[in-house]
Amino acid sequence: MSKQKTVFYCQNCGYQTSKWLGKCPSCEKWNSFVEEVVKTDDKHAYSKNVSAKETVEAHPIQEVAYSTEIRLNACNGELNRVLGGGIVPGSLILIGGEPGIGKSTLMLQVALNINAKVLYVSGEESSQQIKMRADRLTIKNPACYIATETSTQNIFQLAEQVTPEVIIIDSIQTLHTEIIDSSAGSISQIKECAAEFQRYAKLTGVPVFLIGHITKDGAIAGPKILEHMVDTVLQFEGDRNYGYRILRSSKNRFGSTSELGIYEMQNSGLREVSNPSEILISQKDQLLSGTSIASTLEGMRPMLIEIQALVSSSVYGTPQRSSTGFDLRRLNMLLAVLEKRCGFRLGAKDVFLNIAGGIRVDDPAIDLAVVSAILSSNADIPVDAKICFAAEVGLTGEIRPVNRIENRISEAGKLGFEKIFISKYNLKGLDIQKYNIDIVPASTVENVFSRLFG
Ligand code: TYD
Ligand code: MG
Repeated sequence: MSKQKTVFYCQNCGYQTSKWLGKCPSCEKWNSFVEEVVKTDDKHAYSKNVSAKETVEAHPIQEVAYSTEIRLNACNGELNRVLGGGIVPGSLILIGGEPGIGKSTLMLQVALNINAKVLYVSGEESSQQIKMRADRLTIKNPACYIATETSTQNIFQLAEQVTPEVIIIDSIQTLHTEIIDSSAGSISQIKECAAEFQRYAKLTGVPVFLIGHITKDGAIAGPKILEHMVDTVLQFEGDRNYGYRILRSSKNRFGSTSELGIYEMQNSGLREVSNPSEILISQKDQLLSGTSIASTLEGMRPMLIEIQALVSSSVYGTPQRSSTGFDLRRLNMLLAVLEKRCGFRLGAKDVFLNIAGGIRVDDPAIDLAVVSAILSSNADIPVDAKICFAAEVGLTGEIRPVNRIENRISEAGKLGFEKIFISKYNLKGLDIQKYNIDIVPASTVENVFSRLFG
């Protein structure tokens, strides 16, 4: 019988000690240590080939050749984009998201469409349940193998039988490895299972996707160390009440982290959205006050979004301020700027702000559109539907320049807008003639107000 050893793990960050501690010295969280049993004979499930390799070599960097063609096409444009142009062989990709957001659907859809042999292993659903879901999606790939399994040793055995070109694991939290005694989902299990798949991916060159659940505060459940072990971390997010889902990468060893993919959840699965602006701007026949359009960037991707504001007299003593999809503190700041610097009396008004489509935007370049929507609702005069905005508002009420203004202007032009308000400081080096849209430079909020509402 092997000797048993116990170790205390911080459930928050994965810090390891030999005795219990009240406070984690690494992440400073209280009461986060849990005792887990590990066996001392440290043999790994997928390590047999490691010791077999006898010669070690180093090469001058000029002599190392690789081909850019080598990436595997995921047959899913948005996923390819987020990964940086396809799946890199031998990479370990972690995809996280809240329950019910569509992680299993996305990965199953990839498995059913990709032009390669896939092994899809679920620890959560039976083969019949997976088949039921697959029938709602379209099945194009005849070489999609499914299995229900939670033991990593069995999964590697399956992989040897099937010889897949891609492996998908539906949830790392359900896996367990025999060499560790603690229960599935515990820190030491997650760490070890991920390490086994990392070794497998690197040795065989087969890319592995790991689906991971996230905790209440949005971190991938399990130690932070999991994010260090994998090559790419993708987050799948979106509001469950709206159909839109956003896939972004928070770490990518083989591409930029500023790309993002957009999907729409439909009855027949996830549809790729290649022109996001169309869905984010509501189509209406009647021009109403309180809406304005901002040209924003999500990562590298320009898109136009609709801001809706409602300003009404407050019924209670303390006016209410509420915002969806936009930082409430930033809204309060903009209201204070309007009050103090520009003399608009909003102190006794309720202000509600909403970004259409249920998305969240952190881009400061939507400030001017937010201010315009508020002023439009306050004055009850609509903003012309052919006008959009791309500028930040400073604490003094000045209109500040924003980054990548060329992308924002050309996207607005492409979508048929006729006028875009930008900061006059953004004009430097800008070739106005190049765009098929009127560029209106502005310096202060009053300036914009008088041009919009006369
Ligand atoms: P799922 O992929 O099971 O989520 P996760 O694995 O992230 O927990 O997604 C489930 C949701 O997606 C469920 O609420 C139903 C919805 N859905 C559709 O709307 N259309 C579909 O074709 C499928 C398969 C699921
Ligand atoms: Mg799932």
